Amino acid sequence: MSFPDVRLRRLRQSPAVRGLVRETSLEPRNLVLPLFVREGLSEAVPIGSMPGIVQHSLDSLRAAAVDAAEAGVGGVMLFGVPAVRDAQGSGADDPQGILNVATEVLAAEVGDALVVQTDLCLDEFTDHGHCGVLDADGAVDNDATLVRYASMALAQARAGSQLLGLSGMMDGQVAVIRAALDAEGFTDTLLLAYAAKYASAFYGPFREAVDSQLKGDRRTYQLDPGNRREGVREAVVDEQEGADIVMVKPAMAFLDVLREVRDTVDIPVWAYQVSGEYAMIEAAAANGWIDRRASILESLLSIRRAGADAVLTYWATDAARWLRG
Ligand code: PBG
Repeated sequence: MSFPDVRLRRLRQSPAVRGLVRETSLEPRNLVLPLFVREGLSEAVPIGSMPGIVQHSLDSLRAAAVDAAEAGVGGVMLFGVPAVRDAQGSGADDPQGILNVATEVLAAEVGDALVVQTDLCLDEFTDHGHCGVLDADGAVDNDATLVRYASMALAQARAGSQLLGLSGMMDGQVAVIRAALDAEGFTDTLLLAYAAKYASAFYGPFREAVDSQLKGDRRTYQLDPGNRREGVREAVVDEQEGADIVMVKPAMAFLDVLREVRDTVDIPVWAYQVSGEYAMIEAAAANGWIDRRASILESLLSIRRAGADAVLTYWATDAARWLRG
């Protein structure tokens, strides 16, 4: 047997060698846990399509955030589910709205241990379920929505959110929110721009999680899944507008976009492993078809390898515990 003496298997001969040459690492501090809090609950309610994930009461939310902090998770991203909705999404910038109240609670409880973050979008708060307000013809009105986002940003910053997750996909949202925050002295509030957020079928379970009122789709503002260049362009524009971090979402079906965004911008790039990604692995594992823990860790490592500096994942606390052994 003769072949050019390039023996790549030498690098794989033992766990110790493999550990020395592994290119990508995954650490608890790279993980962000999304959390749902629902107004009026006295105890947590399970989400059927996301086994193991719940809509939290304020008390169970506090406990989950403390767990995450103790496991070494880098941050929590909070989503609010209000009891009442209207066309303008009034609950979003009401200081007594569930998201802002919960933010105050978490900022006080775990604000020193991890980064308390809030989703900045109107969809949970509008009675039509869109991410913005509508014009007379029922279309999502970009510039009118920016006025609402600016107000929401101030409410969240005042409640103690350290990082705002701009997930609405309106043009100009980063610049308008940055200006509104700076004008009120919130110059340290971080902006995470969901730059390349695709109109994806993998958000299905999330819509149950937030009790979404949406009929139709978000294709006039979220990206077409066929477009990689356009996703990169969104990230470049958001960086120019002043985003501190950009996001690619979903993660696993868009790893090529993630890699290209990472290679293009100079700021941190995060990825969101969304509800459908979670549900698929949980369902397959529950059937005994894949190894749950190994699949979860491999999925997270792969998202890091593709270029994500941090990953939003519903498994953040579990994964952090496993990683710490
Ligand atoms: C919308 C929003 C979505 C998710 C988070 N915020 C998607 C959508 O409804 O279009 C999805 C998250 C997930 O699926 O885990 N603001």
